[in-house]
Amino acid sequence: MADDQVLTDMLTMLDRSPGVLALRVCVIELLIERQRFADALAHCGTALGHDPGNAQVLGLMMRCTTALSGGSPAPAPDATPAPGSTAAASAAQPDFDWAAAEDEVGDIIEPAFVHGVPSEFVTDEDAATVERPSLRLADVGGMSEVKQQLDLTLLGPLRNPELAKAFGTSARGGLLLYGPPGCGKTFIASAVAGELGANFYPIEITDILDIYTGASERNVHSIFEMARRNAPCVLFLDEVDALGHKRSQMQASTTMRTVVNQLLTEMDSATHSNEGVFVLGATNHPWDVDVALRRPGRFDRMIFVGLPDLAARTSILHYHLRDRPVAGIDLNALAAHTDGLSGADLAHVCTSATQLAMADSMRSGEVRPVGMADIQAALAQIRPSTGAWFESARNVVEFANGDGSYDDLALYLKRLKRR
Ligand SMILES: Nc1ncnc2c1ncn2[C@@H]1O[C@H](COP(=O)(O)OP(=O)(O)OP(=O)(O)O)[C@@H](O)[C@H]1O
Ligand SMILES: [Mg+2]
Repeated sequence: MADDQVLTDMLTMLDRSPGVLALRVCVIELLIERQRFADALAHCGTALGHDPGNAQVLGLMMRCTTALSGGSPAPAPDATPAPGSTAAASAAQPDFDWAAAEDEVGDIIEPAFVHGVPSEFVTDEDAATVERPSLRLADVGGMSEVKQQLDLTLLGPLRNPELAKAFGTSARGGLLLYGPPGCGKTFIASAVAGELGANFYPIEITDILDIYTGASERNVHSIFEMARRNAPCVLFLDEVDALGHKRSQMQASTTMRTVVNQLLTEMDSATHSNEGVFVLGATNHPWDVDVALRRPGRFDRMIFVGLPDLAARTSILHYHLRDRPVAGIDLNALAAHTDGLSGADLAHVCTSATQLAMADSMRSGEVRPVGMADIQAALAQIRPSTGAWFESARNVVEFANGDGSYDDLALYLKRLKRR
């Protein structure tokens, strides 16, 4: 059945890109829909390992445990599908008429588009109600090199198109943010969104994928057409590695292969006038992205986003403790002692420390705020989650940097060694 092929395709993609949370959530929803609760539960565990406290995953987990303990699984929390979730849409509509839908394939409107990407189907009114992130680059702690590069290559030319033209540059083509997991790529992209307001369109991979033959390519085309009409603008593709995997590795997934081919065509300035259309991508593994996607005119520039520096760590710790009862926490000392941890690791430390204080409070019946001792205890339990990533990165720099694409990374690794 076509939808089981979707599950197989998604599981294949997940094997290659286990850190792509949106994809795992989709798989969990599909498994729940097929009543494979134990499998779904295992994926929930993995997802929470990547993003502890993720409310959507916790909700799905609850549905699995309820079902496994004999209760009937709670219905999906909302009839509205999560952004990009075809699975959620079908789970909410058990009597969905697949045959009728297939007849209308040409006219199908992806509900997910309305969430993040105004397509040609979305009215001005819809577009106006799309949520705009309020985050600004100034809210991103530290990372001054990354911010400077973004300003120079993306924000500057978009804000001053005439000036950029006079200097022979323009806002077109693509830029890939890359680096270890949990270090702020998506966060920084949201800050760029906040800077640009209406002209920023985040695209979820699951928004693009469609089980119907030809529909995924049409979705990619519609998104680019919309972007061209609304230029200057930025299309943001997160977790590009899941989408742009080397086509040769994609034998099993025809859908993904054709999507990548379509993306290549759309980004190709020889076939389309993409003036003012900027594609911002984020990935942990640029070396796994189809090389054709990194040719001139496509993602031809890369910015390395490394481990959070001191200022970034301070702001991350502050962010994750801001709504919790705390006492006697020395943020600066803590930031100084957490060199080597990613943003996600730091978030995990804050959650674990809070759990310790909560457990204590439950035992004593009195609220005890989170203190330095809880944080120290949580820190003792954590190991930097980026170790494996740095191992692959070292190999890439050593054996696959013939064209200098990873010079920034090489320099960073050298500096890291010296510390
Ligand atoms: N410079 C920063 N200032 C404030 N918070 C940050 C900063 N960098 C990261 N964070 C926080 O760290 C967490 C992880 O960041 P984010 O999800 O953007 O990482 P990522 O690089 O996109 O990870 P992945 O590769 O797993 O997708 C987020 O909760 C974010 O709030
Ligand atoms: Mg991310």
